[in-house]
Amino acid sequence: VVNVAANGFPLEQGGWLPSVDVKVEAWGEGARNPVVLVCHALTGNAHVARHHESDAPGWWEFLVGAGRPLDPRRVRIFATNALGGCAGSTGPASADARGVAWGERFPTITVGDMVRAEALALDQLGVDRVDLVVGGSLGGMRALEWASAYPDRVGVVGGLGVSAGLSAMALGMNHVQLEAVRWALAHRDGEVGVGWARMVAMLTYRSPAHLDRRFGRARQPDGHTFQVASYLTHQGEKLKSRFDPVSYLRLAEAMGEYRLHAAGARPIRAKVRLLALENDWLFPPEDVRRTVAELGAAGVDARWSDLRTEVGHDAFLIEAPDLVVWFGALVDEALAAGRSDGPGTGRKGDALWN
Ligand code: COA
Repeated sequence: VVNVAANGFPLEQGGWLPSVDVKVEAWGEGARNPVVLVCHALTGNAHVARHHESDAPGWWEFLVGAGRPLDPRRVRIFATNALGGCAGSTGPASADARGVAWGERFPTITVGDMVRAEALALDQLGVDRVDLVVGGSLGGMRALEWASAYPDRVGVVGGLGVSAGLSAMALGMNHVQLEAVRWALAHRDGEVGVGWARMVAMLTYRSPAHLDRRFGRARQPDGHTFQVASYLTHQGEKLKSRFDPVSYLRLAEAMGEYRLHAAGARPIRAKVRLLALENDWLFPPEDVRRTVAELGAAGVDARWSDLRTEVGHDAFLIEAPDLVVWFGALVDEALAAGRSDGPGTGRKGDALWN
């Protein structure tokens, strides 16, 4: 855990935090190896993969390890818990200056604040240049924000299931989740709200075809409960037990507010590579392509690929051969770009991008 704000941390929306800790996990030794920063999604954490055999598995375990796209022998991998989260970094469940948990007094934060906190953490670890920043969903927003906020520090951005900002449908689904958590907090049972929000969210992470094939109208052995209902309840219960309600609010609010401005004050210099997930209705492939077009119009070297999948949004978290191949090409391109700092070196991956 790195303290990044000895003298306070001002926030984009106003206000400030007196102190900010950022939880960092790292893999790989070679001090001169290229650097990859992995950004987690809404309810993720810094534990991307095991550090040793008996360690708990991480959420991108299948991408990290010898012979895998993120090979600690080739790259140094860093992952942080986002500011506002509840897995080691400062967030609503942390203590304020008086030692009392922030709770709902925790201020509004933005994706920009999250990125600035993790950039400060990398500074303290002596990491200046990041060859690849990668993440899905909210993690993809963080990756895009890195390119926009730190044009001179980032080589390649990889975003999976992410676009420049949530669509009206996605904002609506986000609103329902926020209202559920707020209502539950007002009734002093925030965890219940997290469970409801997760059930709605899980539906946005899966396609109708996937749910139909998996559950259809089948029921549990009790002969009454629909299997899809039991599945959602299970996912809701699981998150309830590990996620702080106010963290859910602050992170989901930040996700809703985020909008990448392709032609911002400082031009984006990183190459941007987005993976559109088939059947994703949270970040539909059309939105991903539109974001690439916006970036291209602003002079950014931006390209997209499609991942064929029935799952929908969650496909970026589920092991699949095509996902591993895309990721391998992404890392190869970032390493080639880091070596030459010029265009056209990522030949192995070229066939995969549009
Ligand atoms: N009734 C009750 N539980 C059921 C069930 C049913 N009919 N069918 C499956 N389950 C349970 C399984 O027992 C298993 O439980 P466990 O996780 O406690 O072991 C769980 O559902 C499996 O979930 P499933 O969705 O089938 O796994 P997956 O391999 O398809 O996906 C994850 C794995 C990690 C992607 C997914 O579980 C998940 O957590 N998704 C949300 C992650 C997220 O935050 N995504 C987007 C961020 S913006």
